[in-house]
Amino acid sequence: MGMLDGKAAFVTAAGGGIAGAIARRFGAEGAAVCCVDVVEETVAKTAADIEAAGGKAISKICNVADEEAVKKTVDDAASELGLLNVVVNAAATSEPLHTVANMPLEVWQDVLDVNLTGMFLVAKHAIPHMQAAGGGQFINISSTFGHIAWPQRPAYMATKGAVRQLSKSIALDFAEDNIRANSILPGAIETNRLLSRTPTMEQVREKMVPLHPIGRLGQPEDIANAAAFLASDESSFMTGSDVFVDGGFTAV
Ligand SMILES: NC(=O)c1ccc[n+]([C@@H]2O[C@H](COP(=O)([O-])OP(=O)(O)OC[C@H]3O[C@@H](n4cnc5c(N)ncnc54)[C@H](O)[C@@H]3O)[C@@H](O)[C@H]2O)c1
Repeated sequence: MGMLDGKAAFVTAAGGGIAGAIARRFGAEGAAVCCVDVVEETVAKTAADIEAAGGKAISKICNVADEEAVKKTVDDAASELGLLNVVVNAAATSEPLHTVANMPLEVWQDVLDVNLTGMFLVAKHAIPHMQAAGGGQFINISSTFGHIAWPQRPAYMATKGAVRQLSKSIALDFAEDNIRANSILPGAIETNRLLSRTPTMEQVREKMVPLHPIGRLGQPEDIANAAAFLASDESSFMTGSDVFVDGGFTAV
Protein backbone atom coordinates (compact mmCIF):
# COMPACT_ATOMS: atom_id res chain seq x y z
CA MET A 1 0.00 0.00 0.00
CA GLY A 2 1.42 3.35 -1.04
CA MET A 3 0.29 6.62 0.50
CA LEU A 4 -0.80 7.85 -2.98
CA ASP A 5 -2.46 4.70 -4.33
CA GLY A 6 -5.21 5.55 -6.82
CA LYS A 7 -4.06 9.14 -7.38
CA ALA A 8 -2.94 10.64 -10.71
CA ALA A 9 -0.44 13.49 -10.62
CA PHE A 10 0.66 16.20 -13.08
CA VAL A 11 4.16 17.38 -12.12
CA THR A 12 5.74 20.38 -13.88
CA ALA A 13 9.55 20.79 -14.05
CA ALA A 14 9.79 17.02 -13.56
CA GLY A 15 13.06 16.96 -15.49
CA GLY A 16 14.62 19.11 -12.75
CA GLY A 17 16.02 18.31 -9.34
CA ILE A 18 13.15 18.99 -6.94
CA ALA A 19 10.16 18.07 -9.11
CA GLY A 20 12.07 15.04 -10.45
CA ALA A 21 12.43 13.76 -6.87
CA ILE A 22 8.75 14.53 -6.20
CA ALA A 23 7.66 12.64 -9.32
CA ARG A 24 9.81 9.60 -8.40
CA ARG A 25 8.46 9.59 -4.83
CA PHE A 26 4.85 9.91 -6.05
CA GLY A 27 5.43 6.97 -8.41
CA ALA A 28 6.90 4.90 -5.58
CA GLU A 29 3.86 5.76 -3.41
CA GLY A 30 1.44 4.37 -6.01
CA ALA A 31 0.41 7.47 -7.99
CA ALA A 32 0.31 7.45 -11.78
CA VAL A 33 2.49 10.42 -12.79
CA CYS A 34 2.54 12.70 -15.82
CA CYS A 35 6.05 14.23 -15.87
CA VAL A 36 6.14 17.61 -17.66
CA ASP A 37 9.06 19.81 -18.67
CA VAL A 38 10.48 21.77 -21.62
CA VAL A 39 13.56 19.51 -21.80
CA GLU A 40 12.73 16.15 -23.39
CA GLU A 41 15.79 14.17 -22.29
CA THR A 42 15.54 14.89 -18.57
CA VAL A 43 11.76 14.52 -18.29
CA ALA A 44 11.82 11.23 -20.20
CA LYS A 45 14.51 10.00 -17.79
CA THR A 46 12.32 10.80 -14.77
CA ALA A 47 9.40 8.88 -16.27
CA ALA A 48 11.69 5.97 -17.20
CA ASP A 49 13.06 5.85 -13.63
CA ILE A 50 9.50 5.65 -12.24
CA GLU A 51 8.60 2.82 -14.62
CA ALA A 52 11.87 0.97 -13.89
CA ALA A 53 10.98 1.09 -10.18
CA GLY A 54 7.61 -0.53 -10.94
CA GLY A 55 5.49 2.64 -11.09
CA LYS A 56 3.29 4.14 -13.80
CA ALA A 57 4.46 7.28 -15.63
CA ILE A 58 4.14 9.19 -18.88
CA SER A 59 6.14 12.24 -19.96
CA LYS A 60 5.15 15.32 -21.92
CA ILE A 61 6.86 18.42 -23.27
CA CYS A 62 5.07 21.65 -22.38
CA ASN A 63 6.02 25.27 -21.76
CA VAL A 64 3.80 26.20 -18.81
CA ALA A 65 3.63 29.81 -20.02
CA ASP A 66 1.81 28.78 -23.24
CA GLU A 67 -1.94 28.47 -22.53
CA GLU A 68 -2.81 26.40 -25.60
CA ALA A 69 -0.02 23.93 -24.82
CA VAL A 70 -0.98 23.76 -21.13
CA LYS A 71 -4.65 23.03 -21.88
CA LYS A 72 -3.78 20.27 -24.36
CA THR A 73 -1.15 18.73 -22.08
CA VAL A 74 -3.39 18.76 -18.99
CA ASP A 75 -6.37 17.34 -20.94
CA ASP A 76 -4.20 14.65 -22.57
CA ALA A 77 -2.69 13.70 -19.21
CA ALA A 78 -6.12 13.33 -17.59
CA SER A 79 -7.34 11.24 -20.49
CA GLU A 80 -4.25 8.98 -20.59
CA LEU A 81 -4.07 8.50 -16.81
CA GLY A 82 -7.85 8.15 -16.47
CA LEU A 83 -8.16 11.06 -14.02
CA LEU A 84 -6.15 13.96 -12.61
CA ASN A 85 -6.31 14.82 -8.93
CA VAL A 86 -2.82 16.00 -7.89
CA VAL A 87 -0.84 18.87 -9.41
CA VAL A 88 2.69 19.93 -8.50
CA ASN A 89 3.57 23.34 -9.93
CA ALA A 90 7.38 23.64 -9.82
CA ALA A 91 8.46 25.23 -13.13
CA ALA A 92 10.65 28.32 -12.70
CA THR A 93 13.26 30.13 -14.77
CA SER A 94 16.80 30.95 -13.60
CA GLU A 95 17.15 34.62 -14.46
CA PRO A 96 20.38 36.69 -14.26
CA LEU A 97 20.91 38.98 -11.24
CA HIS A 98 19.45 42.48 -11.54
CA THR A 99 18.05 45.23 -9.38
CA VAL A 100 14.73 46.80 -10.33
CA ALA A 101 16.71 49.71 -11.80
CA ASN A 102 18.61 47.64 -14.36
CA MET A 103 16.33 44.65 -15.04
CA PRO A 104 15.18 44.62 -18.68
CA LEU A 105 11.40 44.35 -19.06
CA GLU A 106 11.80 41.14 -21.11
CA VAL A 107 13.59 39.44 -18.19
CA TRP A 108 10.95 40.59 -15.69
CA GLN A 109 8.16 39.43 -18.00
CA ASP A 110 9.75 36.03 -18.66
CA VAL A 111 10.09 35.32 -14.92
CA LEU A 112 6.46 36.32 -14.32
CA ASP A 113 5.25 34.30 -17.34
CA VAL A 114 6.90 31.04 -16.25
CA ASN A 115 6.93 31.22 -12.43
CA LEU A 116 3.51 32.77 -11.88
CA THR A 117 1.33 32.82 -15.01
CA GLY A 118 2.40 29.22 -15.73
CA MET A 119 1.06 28.19 -12.32
CA PHE A 120 -2.21 30.04 -12.97
CA LEU A 121 -2.61 28.35 -16.37
CA VAL A 122 -1.94 24.84 -15.08
CA ALA A 123 -4.37 25.41 -12.20
CA LYS A 124 -7.02 26.89 -14.50
CA HIS A 125 -7.02 23.86 -16.77
CA ALA A 126 -6.52 21.23 -14.05
CA ILE A 127 -9.40 22.34 -11.80
CA PRO A 128 -12.19 20.94 -14.05
CA HIS A 129 -10.44 17.55 -13.97
CA MET A 130 -10.12 17.70 -10.18
CA GLN A 131 -13.81 18.61 -9.90
CA ALA A 132 -14.66 15.63 -12.12
CA ALA A 133 -12.49 13.41 -9.90
CA GLY A 134 -14.29 14.56 -6.75
CA GLY A 135 -11.39 16.68 -5.44
CA GLY A 136 -7.65 17.13 -5.56
CA GLN A 137 -4.50 18.73 -4.20
CA PHE A 138 -2.25 21.48 -5.53
CA ILE A 139 1.32 21.60 -4.26
CA ASN A 140 2.79 24.88 -5.45
CA ILE A 141 6.53 25.40 -5.07
CA SER A 142 7.31 28.84 -3.67
CA SER A 143 10.65 29.63 -1.99
CA THR A 144 12.01 31.11 1.20
CA PHE A 145 12.68 34.06 -1.15
CA GLY A 146 8.90 34.44 -1.26
CA HIS A 147 9.09 35.23 2.45
CA ILE A 148 12.44 36.96 3.10
CA ALA A 149 14.54 39.19 0.84
CA TRP A 150 17.73 38.40 -1.06
CA PRO A 151 19.79 40.83 -3.15
CA GLN A 152 19.12 41.31 -6.85
CA ARG A 153 16.23 38.86 -7.27
CA PRO A 154 13.23 41.24 -7.61
CA ALA A 155 11.24 39.26 -10.19
CA TYR A 156 11.91 35.87 -8.61
CA MET A 157 10.96 37.13 -5.15
CA ALA A 158 7.83 38.87 -6.45
CA THR A 159 6.65 35.66 -8.15
CA LYS A 160 7.46 33.42 -5.20
CA GLY A 161 5.52 35.69 -2.83
CA ALA A 162 2.63 35.71 -5.31
CA VAL A 163 2.65 31.90 -5.50
CA ARG A 164 1.69 31.77 -1.82
CA GLN A 165 -1.26 34.12 -2.33
CA LEU A 166 -2.37 32.35 -5.53
CA SER A 167 -2.39 29.08 -3.58
CA LYS A 168 -4.52 30.64 -0.83
CA SER A 169 -6.91 31.99 -3.47
CA ILE A 170 -7.36 28.50 -4.97
CA ALA A 171 -7.73 27.02 -1.48
CA LEU A 172 -10.53 29.45 -0.64
CA ASP A 173 -12.41 29.36 -3.93
CA PHE A 174 -12.40 25.56 -4.38
CA ALA A 175 -12.62 24.20 -0.82
CA GLU A 176 -16.24 23.24 -1.43
CA ASP A 177 -15.07 21.06 -4.34
CA ASN A 178 -12.74 19.18 -1.97
CA ILE A 179 -9.75 20.79 -3.70
CA ARG A 180 -6.83 21.80 -1.46
CA ALA A 181 -3.87 24.03 -2.31
CA ASN A 182 -0.69 24.44 -0.26
CA SER A 183 2.68 26.07 -0.93
CA ILE A 184 6.09 24.64 -0.09
CA LEU A 185 8.90 27.11 0.68
CA PRO A 186 12.22 25.30 0.24
CA GLY A 187 15.51 26.59 1.64
CA ALA A 188 18.63 26.00 -0.48
CA ILE A 189 18.25 22.57 -2.09
CA GLU A 190 21.15 20.89 -3.89
CA THR A 191 20.03 20.99 -7.55
CA ASN A 192 21.59 22.35 -10.75
CA ARG A 193 19.73 25.62 -10.12
CA LEU A 194 22.29 26.48 -7.42
CA LEU A 195 25.10 26.07 -9.96
CA SER A 196 23.73 28.77 -12.26
CA ARG A 197 25.69 31.46 -10.37
CA THR A 198 28.31 29.50 -8.39
CA PRO A 199 30.67 27.08 -10.20
CA THR A 200 30.68 24.14 -7.72
CA MET A 201 28.30 22.71 -5.08
CA GLU A 202 31.19 22.85 -2.59
CA GLN A 203 31.36 26.64 -3.04
CA VAL A 204 27.57 26.85 -2.69
CA ARG A 205 27.80 24.86 0.57
CA GLU A 206 30.57 27.11 1.96
CA LYS A 207 28.35 30.15 1.42
CA MET A 208 24.91 28.75 2.25
CA VAL A 209 25.31 26.05 4.94
CA PRO A 210 26.10 28.66 7.65
CA LEU A 211 22.70 30.25 6.91
CA HIS A 212 20.87 26.93 7.57
CA PRO A 213 20.94 26.15 11.33
CA ILE A 214 20.41 22.44 10.68
CA GLY A 215 23.97 22.33 9.33
CA ARG A 216 23.47 21.14 5.76
CA LEU A 217 21.72 22.13 2.54
CA GLY A 218 18.49 20.39 1.60
CA GLN A 219 18.22 17.45 -0.77
CA PRO A 220 15.43 17.20 -3.36
CA GLU A 221 14.08 14.24 -1.35
CA ASP A 222 13.48 16.57 1.63
CA ILE A 223 10.97 18.46 -0.53
CA ALA A 224 9.55 15.21 -1.96
CA ASN A 225 8.79 14.03 1.61
CA ALA A 226 6.70 17.15 2.27
CA ALA A 227 5.04 16.98 -1.15
CA ALA A 228 4.03 13.34 -0.66
CA PHE A 229 2.42 14.26 2.66
CA LEU A 230 0.57 17.23 1.13
CA ALA A 231 -0.65 15.10 -1.80
CA SER A 232 -1.90 12.38 0.54
CA ASP A 233 -5.09 12.17 2.58
CA GLU A 234 -2.95 12.46 5.75
CA SER A 235 -2.89 16.24 5.19
CA SER A 236 -6.66 16.47 4.62
CA PHE A 237 -7.09 19.34 7.15
CA MET A 238 -4.34 21.42 5.48
CA THR A 239 -5.19 23.97 2.82
CA GLY A 240 -3.92 27.48 2.12
CA SER A 241 -0.80 26.72 4.16
CA ASP A 242 2.79 27.85 3.69
CA VAL A 243 5.00 24.86 4.45
CA PHE A 244 8.62 25.84 5.16
CA VAL A 245 11.16 23.09 4.44
CA ASP A 246 14.27 25.16 4.95
CA GLY A 247 16.55 23.74 7.66
CA GLY A 248 15.75 26.72 9.87
CA PHE A 249 16.92 29.29 7.27
CA THR A 250 13.99 31.62 8.00
CA ALA A 251 13.82 30.82 11.73
CA VAL A 252 16.75 33.13 12.52
N1 LIG B 1 16.96 24.56 -5.56
C1 LIG B 1 16.64 25.44 -4.63
O1 LIG B 1 17.47 25.80 -3.78
C2 LIG B 1 15.25 26.02 -4.56
C3 LIG B 1 14.93 26.79 -3.45
C4 LIG B 1 13.65 27.33 -3.35
C5 LIG B 1 12.71 27.10 -4.35
N2 LIG B 1 13.08 26.35 -5.44
C6 LIG B 1 12.04 26.15 -6.47
O2 LIG B 1 11.89 24.76 -6.74
C7 LIG B 1 11.44 24.60 -8.09
C8 LIG B 1 12.32 23.58 -8.80
O3 LIG B 1 13.66 24.06 -8.76
P1 LIG B 1 14.93 23.11 -8.95
O4 LIG B 1 15.94 23.56 -7.97
O5 LIG B 1 14.52 21.70 -9.00
O6 LIG B 1 15.43 23.62 -10.37
P2 LIG B 1 15.98 22.84 -11.64
O7 LIG B 1 16.72 23.87 -12.42
O8 LIG B 1 16.69 21.57 -11.25
O9 LIG B 1 14.66 22.42 -12.43
C9 LIG B 1 13.82 23.36 -13.03
C10 LIG B 1 13.12 22.67 -14.18
O10 LIG B 1 12.12 23.56 -14.69
C11 LIG B 1 12.05 23.36 -16.08
N3 LIG B 1 11.41 24.52 -16.72
C12 LIG B 1 11.95 25.76 -16.87
N4 LIG B 1 11.09 26.55 -17.54
C13 LIG B 1 9.99 25.79 -17.81
C14 LIG B 1 8.75 26.05 -18.49
N5 LIG B 1 8.51 27.26 -19.04
N6 LIG B 1 7.84 25.06 -18.58
C15 LIG B 1 8.09 23.84 -18.04
N7 LIG B 1 9.24 23.53 -17.39
C16 LIG B 1 10.17 24.50 -17.28
C17 LIG B 1 13.52 23.20 -16.48
O11 LIG B 1 13.67 22.61 -17.76
C18 LIG B 1 14.06 22.33 -15.34
O12 LIG B 1 13.97 20.95 -15.65
C19 LIG B 1 11.47 25.99 -8.71
O13 LIG B 1 10.16 26.52 -8.68
C20 LIG B 1 12.37 26.78 -7.80
O14 LIG B 1 12.08 28.15 -7.80
C21 LIG B 1 14.31 25.81 -5.57
